[in-house]
Amino acid sequence: MVAKLNNSDRMEKLSPEELRKVIAEGGGKTHRSDLMPPWAMRLTPEQIDDLVQFVVQLRYMNPSVPSSTLAAYMAAPEGVPADGRSLFVHHCVACHGSEGKGDGPFAAKLLETAKVQPRNLTDSVYFKDRKDSDLYATIALGGGHFKKAVQMPAWTQTLTPAQMKSLVAYVRSISQTESK
Ligand code: HEC
Repeated sequence: MVAKLNNSDRMEKLSPEELRKVIAEGGGKTHRSDLMPPWAMRLTPEQIDDLVQFVVQLRYMNPSVPSSTLAAYMAAPEGVPADGRSLFVHHCVACHGSEGKGDGPFAAKLLETAKVQPRNLTDSVYFKDRKDSDLYATIALGGGHFKKAVQMPAWTQTLTPAQMKSLVAYVRSISQTESK
């Protein structure tokens, strides 16, 4: 069977080093199907590097996330939950509430005028199935981009990728969910 390169459960188990080995040496030598040919003779090390990077990116692929957003996400350092907390207090509590429960001072107004509620960011059941890269993209591009409420603003003009990643890390901490 041909491996699905965007199957994140399967692909997460492969490190970039292992991927490089499968691509360079082929399936047969790495205990997989020998229908996957070795490419080391036919591609330069740089081309193999590019392929590894491309396959790693596929893991995060969501057709509605532009590749520039994904590239910025991947290039930014790990998010820091404490930095996320300070940014959150500054930019997000008006809607999401000081504890992230979706009950900030604007929440009642949003419900009344637009029948929209800021997401409860402590909702573990909801957040356990969401990918970090998708949360990042919603923060960066806003709800409207994903056919969610347009009242969730886009932050890409205001915040850096590192800051938005810290906000994702903060959402992980208050929803008590694992990164995925
Ligand atoms: C003006 C109000 C408002 C502000 C300010 C706001 N949000 Fe939101 N946010 C919303 C609304 C409304 C939703 C619900 C969107 C939906 O599910 O349709 C939402 C949803 C979300 C979600 C869930 C996304 C998903 O994939 O379902 C996250 C995460 C989030 N906001 C993070 C933030 C962060 C971080 C900030 C601050 C940088 C912020 N929001 C600021 C209104 C706001």
